[in-house]
Amino acid sequence: MELLDKLKWRYATKAMNGKVVPQEKVDAIIEAARLAPTSSGLQPFEIYVVKSQEVKEKIKPIAWNQSVITDCSHLLVFAAWDTYTPERINYMFDLTNEIRGFKNQGWEDYRKMLLDSYPQRDAEENFNHAAKQAYIAFSQAITAAAFEGVDATPIEGFDPNALDEILGLREKGLRSAVILPIGYRAETEDWLVNLVKVRKSTEDLVTVIE
Ligand SMILES: Cc1cc2nc3c(=O)[nH]c(=O)nc-3n(C[C@H](O)[C@H](O)[C@H](O)COP(=O)(O)O)c2cc1C
Repeated sequence: MELLDKLKWRYATKAMNGKVVPQEKVDAIIEAARLAPTSSGLQPFEIYVVKSQEVKEKIKPIAWNQSVITDCSHLLVFAAWDTYTPERINYMFDLTNEIRGFKNQGWEDYRKMLLDSYPQRDAEENFNHAAKQAYIAFSQAITAAAFEGVDATPIEGFDPNALDEILGLREKGLRSAVILPIGYRAETEDWLVNLVKVRKSTEDLVTVIE
């Protein structure tokens, strides 16, 4: 199947059957998220992988009782940095220098520019910026899941404060942004499985400037 066929196959699965996704597929989905581009390469988020049925049961009621929370195989939680700190910025710049094995003045000037602006900004603004980056990784995870023939449900329908509490995210300087149960569709129970995908036309979506 071509990638576009797989993207047509995927849908926001409403019912899953509890079947476990093999570890190599989970790894591939997470790797796609890790490889996502992010603003300044800061990767300002972490991914929590909830396998525990007990923890999923705790999350379900604060996620509109959506059945996929407990019937999925793994629940991925994309948790964004609560703000940008000098430590967090320096960590990624130092990591770049270490991995590439050299220092570059332009890159160091860019580091200084971020250090002189991001940490001073309002934490909420920083969290929103970090959460946008988490969404890029989330999107890559959705695509990778489809590529692997694994179903996924993108979910914003949950109480982020309650989820932060359940997973102890705030103490770690993180806030949940969006969640992604992955698993396998329960074909006979899912009202959405056979419905035609609805998208606006390319003409309505795209304006070409010649
Ligand atoms: C950020 C985001 C949040 C969403 N939240 C939910 C949700 O809480 N529950 C749900 O069933 N679907 C949720 N969806 C699924 C969308 O409704 C769905 O992707 C959209 O209607 C397009 O349908 P398709 O994904 O099946 O092609 C969400 C999708 C996105 C991208």
